[in-house]
Amino acid sequence: MTDELVRRARAVMTHAHAPYSGFRVGAAIEAGDGSVHVGCNVESASYGLTICAERMALGAAVAAGATRIARVVVTTDVDPPAAPCGACRQLLAEFGLTMEIRSVGPGSERRWTLAELLPDAFTRETLER
Ligand code: THU
Repeated sequence: MTDELVRRARAVMTHAHAPYSGFRVGAAIEAGDGSVHVGCNVESASYGLTICAERMALGAAVAAGATRIARVVVTTDVDPPAAPCGACRQLLAEFGLTMEIRSVGPGSERRWTLAELLPDAFTRETLER
């Protein structure tokens, strides 16, 4: 399945709208039911409105009815492969910290759990204390 996720992330990466940075990102999310949801980065002339590929894929997954996230594959054109930004880590954390994050560049890859990328996370449990 993860090879399928890499293929899907690379495919959607070609649709990235990144005229300002030139930095294309693709993301493919495998939901708890095995369904796959993809996203790419979309930049704006009003730079701060830019949306990352990971959050776009998460929105697609939620919109399709996903409630659990098993893994996320991110693709870029850089080595070492890019880790998700802080905002994406925080939004992904809505769906637990055990998900696997795999980032794939042209010649190498890196893997983490979300817990490793977001230690001492602020979560709903924090609000319930
Ligand atoms: N970007 C992502 O899509 N995901 C990340 O985790 C980090 C950054 C995008 C946003 C922007 O379009 C470009 O990469 C450069 O920051």
